[in-house]
Amino acid sequence: MTGPLELAPEEMRSLGYKAIDAIVEHYQSLRDQPAVKTFSRSETKKLDLDFRKEGRSPDEVLAQVIEEIFDGSARLNHPRFFAFIPSPGNYISVIADLLVSGFNVFAGTWLASSGPSEVELRVLDWFRKLCDFPEETRGLFVSGGSVANMTALAAARFDKLGEDQSRGVIYSSDQTHSSIDRAVRMLGFRRDQLRKIASDSQGRLDLAALELALAEDTKAGRRPFCVVANLGTTNFGAIDALEALGTICRSQDLWLHGDGAFGAGAILSSRKNELFAGVEGLDSLTVDPHKWLFQTIECAFLLVKKGSVLRDCFRIRPDYLKDVERADEERNFCDYGIQLTRRPRALKLWLSLQVFGEDAFREAIDYGFALAERAEQSISSLEPWEIKSGAQLGIVAFRYVEGDLEDEERNQLHLDLVRAINEDGLAMISSTVFLGETVLRLCLINPSTQISDLERTMERLTALARELLEEGKAAKSGD
Ligand SMILES: Cc1ncc(COP(=O)(O)O)c(C=O)c1O
Repeated sequence: MTGPLELAPEEMRSLGYKAIDAIVEHYQSLRDQPAVKTFSRSETKKLDLDFRKEGRSPDEVLAQVIEEIFDGSARLNHPRFFAFIPSPGNYISVIADLLVSGFNVFAGTWLASSGPSEVELRVLDWFRKLCDFPEETRGLFVSGGSVANMTALAAARFDKLGEDQSRGVIYSSDQTHSSIDRAVRMLGFRRDQLRKIASDSQGRLDLAALELALAEDTKAGRRPFCVVANLGTTNFGAIDALEALGTICRSQDLWLHGDGAFGAGAILSSRKNELFAGVEGLDSLTVDPHKWLFQTIECAFLLVKKGSVLRDCFRIRPDYLKDVERADEERNFCDYGIQLTRRPRALKLWLSLQVFGEDAFREAIDYGFALAERAEQSISSLEPWEIKSGAQLGIVAFRYVEGDLEDEERNQLHLDLVRAINEDGLAMISSTVFLGETVLRLCLINPSTQISDLERTMERLTALARELLEEGKAAKSGD
């Protein structure tokens, strides 16, 4: 006899094996699949997703999920998914997700998850050491970089401004991710309390402009309290001058937050010293293992050097949670962020590090650097294309320069090209703006991407650009 929401053990096993078979098949066939397939709403409305009083066969529903529902999605771990920031993931991370759901662990309190919380502590400590942060550093895993950034800014505000945030000002470069703008909004700051500082031609915050803005604001009676540094901008992979920013922030009592959602995973690479000098001067750091530490989404974490600030900022102990109180070293992660009920997200990173070892991660990250450098070389020698932003942290940006087009027409051509290649499905690519011009960008952090993937993508882009130019000419001449 099974209860209303139960399956017999043999059905559970059979369904589980089928799901795993489908996942492995998905991994095996990725390169031959489209990198993205997007249906229109009129198409998705035709999916038979209706609710029924009686249940359906799990096999039938599983097949529908895989063949119809998931089909309409981007394959973030596809070797030719180059758009935005890919999420290459890894299979061990998939298994960890399954285990975490299967055991349904609540990782909010030590009482309920001493084992998984120990894993979270160890993973945070592992990364703390890579950053040369002190032992009093604390942190927690969250869903993504956006939440980590907001949590960090809440801690910075708590530490530097106390109850009165009316005069506080936060600084970041104009290349900073929009999650900072959103965090500022959500934390109740006015928009003018976030000052965007110009960046140089490589996308790094202009230090002279920052110092000028700080002096102006202080003179006007405002309270500068936080600077956000980028450890890899989303646009072009730029890393701000961490050492110099540390010096400025220490001398003016400012909290220096590092947004390393995209780039900080590369601290594990052989280029750590060259790229991340000064990282130890940050007060807090966001890292997204679901990007360049090869985890499935959602997996991010935050480190805060003055760990007690993070706890004092978030900790609330109502009557119904008095029983969870324990020794301080037995960490209640619910005291360090916004979530009470939370998954043990550190487990997948720990499990993949256990199975593959740290060296495999280093190799996989170094491969991304090499691939982007190779892409820069080959695109710069490819006739109608021009590199705009060379390889930085696995990202290159480039533009199609053939044809007699006005600036706006050329910008539009690039937007049309993105739409065309994504509809085509061979690769997924996104655009951005470099010094006022629309450019295409490739983010090459997937260790399964081969040179031939890159070559096929550039060939297809070139062919599509030529077709679009021809169509444009035909339309102009009224054919
Ligand atoms: C630099 C940077 N910061 C923050 C974020 C936001 O991270 P998430 O999408 O995990 O919320 C991103 C996402 O791409 C990013 O590139």
